[in-house]
Amino acid sequence: MEKNIESHLIEKRVFRPSREFGKNARIKSLAQYRKMYRESIRSPDRFWAREAKELIWHRSWKKVLDWKAPFAKWFVGGQLNLSENCLDRHLAGPRRNKAAIIWEGEPGEKRTLTYQQLHREVCRFANVLKRNKIRKGDRVIIYLPTTPEAAIAMLACARIGAVHSVVFGGFSADSIRDRIADSGATALITADGSYRRGTIVPLKNNVDHALSGGTSVERVIVFRRAGNEIHMEEGRDLWWHRELQYVDANCEPVPVDSEHPLFILYTSGSTGKPKGILHTTAGYLLGIYATTKYVFDIRDEDLFWCTADVGWVTGHSYVVYGPLSLGATTLMYEGAPNWPEPDRFWRIIEDYRVTILYTAPTAIRAFVRWGDNWVKKHDLSSLRLLGSVGEPINPEAWMWYHKTIGGGRCPVVDTWWQTETGSILITPLPGAIPTKPGSATLPFFGVDAAVVDESGEEVGANVGGKLIIRKPWPSMLRTIYGDRERYRKQYWSEFKGRYLTGDGARRDADGYFWIVGRIDDVLNVAGHRLGTSEIESALVAHAHVAEAAVVGRPDEMKGQAVVAFVTLKGSVAPSTGLKAELLDHVSEHIGAIAKPDEVRFAEALPKTRSGKIMRRLLKEIASGKTVTGDTTTLEDFSVLAKLSEEEVSSGTRERKISLSGL
Ligand code: WT7
Repeated sequence: MEKNIESHLIEKRVFRPSREFGKNARIKSLAQYRKMYRESIRSPDRFWAREAKELIWHRSWKKVLDWKAPFAKWFVGGQLNLSENCLDRHLAGPRRNKAAIIWEGEPGEKRTLTYQQLHREVCRFANVLKRNKIRKGDRVIIYLPTTPEAAIAMLACARIGAVHSVVFGGFSADSIRDRIADSGATALITADGSYRRGTIVPLKNNVDHALSGGTSVERVIVFRRAGNEIHMEEGRDLWWHRELQYVDANCEPVPVDSEHPLFILYTSGSTGKPKGILHTTAGYLLGIYATTKYVFDIRDEDLFWCTADVGWVTGHSYVVYGPLSLGATTLMYEGAPNWPEPDRFWRIIEDYRVTILYTAPTAIRAFVRWGDNWVKKHDLSSLRLLGSVGEPINPEAWMWYHKTIGGGRCPVVDTWWQTETGSILITPLPGAIPTKPGSATLPFFGVDAAVVDESGEEVGANVGGKLIIRKPWPSMLRTIYGDRERYRKQYWSEFKGRYLTGDGARRDADGYFWIVGRIDDVLNVAGHRLGTSEIESALVAHAHVAEAAVVGRPDEMKGQAVVAFVTLKGSVAPSTGLKAELLDHVSEHIGAIAKPDEVRFAEALPKTRSGKIMRRLLKEIASGKTVTGDTTTLEDFSVLAKLSEEEVSSGTRERKISLSGL
């Protein structure tokens, strides 16, 4: 296995937190971090109970953790409400009239909602939900652009105990339909359209397609965002602004049990069907609260900008819930980083005096390519801290981020986590932990992370292996929605009682973690997770396709690019037209983000005697390397030679970076 999980990176640069930063930070030194970390591992109950006391509870818990592997219950017996923790508790003091959300739309509109205003809008919309018979425990799909309404809809669900499932606006009608079917959602909240690079994404139109033919959804509430013409179905579809006319602004938060489901977020795994990752109320809240507090060391004066779309977990945790639970100001931007020009981010930072920027390596690499001149036009002196998330950041991109964006004075926190983990698990603490470009450094409090070999034994320094977590943590997923068995198998069966992350990693002599990337059949394209078998299923659903194998190839911009090997049925001949058709087909089935960068037609796919596609070979072919290693298990030797020749070149190699939904 070590062969596959090899990391050649030797990075010698170390950046110590400045005295200035350390002085003001909550965690001021490596020694303080180590002391707290030790306590959090030895006495997790005591550690987490102390943190949890900073939240607002309706009823205190009886037990911090009930762990019957692999099922965890945190803060058993406690009751609370998440929207109350994000809103009501800030209304009593000076935060009442402080900005909670500052938003900018892609076309340039600006809106600010104070905590008081956001609270009012959330209460009103919660009343709209109640008016439409949405009750505690009901599932609600949210398919909205990154606008304040997305946060309002999420918080309104949480206020009444409804379970939201946000679907990224770049996903197609088919993807929405699958998520409705799996979650059994009865309501859906969307907008007429949203803006992306100057054009309107027809969200409501996609919803109409998803709902045609009948689903469990009875109500669709539509926010008017883009003003594009849409169809409103009598008896099913309602305008957000009209509904508001019938409700008042009083809505008491409904106290729910600690383990009450908060949201389901679908993510790709190694099978064709996305997994509904289920997060529950108290543990999730505590995880995002503690990490926002210690990792971003957020202050009342900060303007925090996480550039993720609300459709991803990063948007849930660090655009909406994390900053609001701390009473901070969160900045939301709806559109693309290069619209109308490649300096949109720097313009926004200058205009609003953003202090903390949290973005993705794929964006950073794009900025490097677009050139420093776009950056130099703007005053970025307000920034004090930078964050990175979503994929391994290459040291050169890290250095550029640190120097060119951070002016050399801002610590960079490279934060490792997953949809499943709910909040950041491996990360520097900016005032305490020295950073090394490319390393996510050390585990957060309570996180017992390790790198192990095939037998589950911890490996030594600088040896590659599988990244696992050996103890439950508050914001961990509780199950895969509706499939406890898959949850157990997927995450907890390879090493019994230990959580399998699916990532490969190594630790250096200082115990620093260096994440190599996914080691399962999951790709990470521009920071987004795509299951290879999901794309394969979509391809095979096309009438002309017999078989498909999808692999990743390294890509300078996106981290990984998607390469599809396709065999065609009977008499069908490969053509450029068919290639384009297949790309559209994948777009329709999953969304434009899953579109292969390259489609290669083959006569047959290389397989082992037992019929398993030899992905390692395909990966090598896809990345242009000559095939090496043992090939004796190939069913048909001629297949290999043909594959390398068959590359039908066409327009699809054009590598457009879409940075979808950053
Ligand atoms: C996968 C999780 C968590 C928010 C965004 C992605 C990769 C994430 C890092 C990092 C190296 C990273 C991992 C992980 N990843 N952050 N700092 N360094 N790799 O969430 O879609 O659930 O994907 O993203 O491979 O398993 P996700």
